Amino acid sequence: MTKIDYRKILEDIKPTESEKKKVKALSDYLINFINKKAGDEEIYAEAVLVGSVAKETWLSRGPGSDTADVDIFIKFPLNTPLDYLKKNGIYLGQECIRNMEGRHEFRYASHPYITGIINGYEIDFVPCYDIEKSKQLKSAVDRTIPHTIYVQDNLKKEQIDEVILLKGFMESVGTYGSEFKVGGFAGYLCELLILHYGTFQEVLEAASEEWKPGYMIDLRKYGTASNFDEPLVVVDPVDPKRNVAAALSLQKMSEFMVASRNFLQEQSSTYFYPREIPADLKTIKEELEKRGTKTLILSFKTPDIPADALYPQIKKTEKSMMHLAEREGFKTQGSDSWTDEKEKVLILLEFDVWMLPKIMKHYGPPVWSHTHQQKFLDKYKNKTWVHGDKWVAEVGRDFTDVQLLLEAALSENKIGLLKFGKHIKKEILEEHQLIDLMEFLESETTQKDVLEFLYKYLHKNWSLWRT
Ligand code: CTP
Ligand code: MG
Repeated sequence: MTKIDYRKILEDIKPTESEKKKVKALSDYLINFINKKAGDEEIYAEAVLVGSVAKETWLSRGPGSDTADVDIFIKFPLNTPLDYLKKNGIYLGQECIRNMEGRHEFRYASHPYITGIINGYEIDFVPCYDIEKSKQLKSAVDRTIPHTIYVQDNLKKEQIDEVILLKGFMESVGTYGSEFKVGGFAGYLCELLILHYGTFQEVLEAASEEWKPGYMIDLRKYGTASNFDEPLVVVDPVDPKRNVAAALSLQKMSEFMVASRNFLQEQSSTYFYPREIPADLKTIKEELEKRGTKTLILSFKTPDIPADALYPQIKKTEKSMMHLAEREGFKTQGSDSWTDEKEKVLILLEFDVWMLPKIMKHYGPPVWSHTHQQKFLDKYKNKTWVHGDKWVAEVGRDFTDVQLLLEAALSENKIGLLKFGKHIKKEILEEHQLIDLMEFLESETTQKDVLEFLYKYLHKNWSLWRT
């Protein structure tokens, strides 16, 4: 077994001293600008640096890449009215971005914030309340300043490398990020895992040997862990009422456990770098052909809503289409979805059974139930017979082909059969395409990212293994 050279890996994924200096200098400049502006205009607010840049735990995505995401929070006294906070917080962020000639974009978490692209960095400006105790919490973002302080006070210098290794590993195996797109581990969660277990190696050992759904970690021994029912519970050291792992799905928790086991066995440094997806059109077509299933692809325009609203709506639509098909007697093999977040959404539905006969058996009441059986016989007349103690009728099927069923369900008058977010519904009703995946692959000059999505569907958990 070869020993991994972690120093070499850190050289690649840890920000260099000059990168750190550059990011710090920029954030200092922005913070000073905001604080001066606030002073000049008598706005009661103060900007502070939070998140992974403040903790020096950010992941550097390749040599020379300025990819740090900088989190600047603008804190207001607790008695500030919410409207004042929102208006002035956004205003200060906007002025700061304008001063730097950056591009800005409004975004929403539990409340609005503004993101600027400044000198190639993505900078979040988030207004929040200046709280001292979790009891004073007014919005979810108010915990971030206490989080930053907690990690700064407790994470030892040498543990910063451990956090970066863990984030790098998570990113590469596809479990990093608490946003809805991933449903994985947040940066702060990675830091707490290192604080709890000590090192990267120990986190992976625990995950692969000890973890199972319902596993609990309570660093400050608040004793509140059993109040949560998510698959992994990590009580927030700054708020006993919050599970830091609340956004982690059972799927991503399990994937991390498997990837940890694989890594501990294989000991390969490739687990810290992105894995090239060998997606090419010809092989994908051949692999699809071999499966002998039928795969449909629904495409429509991406509604203009934030990513964290978009992904759950897409998932809901996907699940709802699969349920409808099952309910009508078809058999599904699997499904997945993809979006570039700007122009196009794709929902893939694969079927084991996609054609059904024209007739089906419909079970009715028992022969000894006098009132019910009369109604049943009146309705189905001479198409009925007795099976065991029940009446059965032969009825026609509305849809013998799953594609026709789904196409009907996507039209104005049958749309009630499906459940989906309202923004998606609007886009689908306006325009959509539901065709066989093979046909889709013929007609389009398929983009690389779409091919990668298809490759990953055909090779599930592709990122969890290396050799
Ligand atoms: N945060 C949180 N829960 C989340 C997401 C974010 O509590 N699900 C808080 C954390 O305090 C986090 C801060 O918001 O430190 C900033 O969020 P983010 O930028 O996502 O995390 P970082 O810790 O900065 O990690 P990185 O940017 O390196 O991914
Ligand atoms: Mg961040």
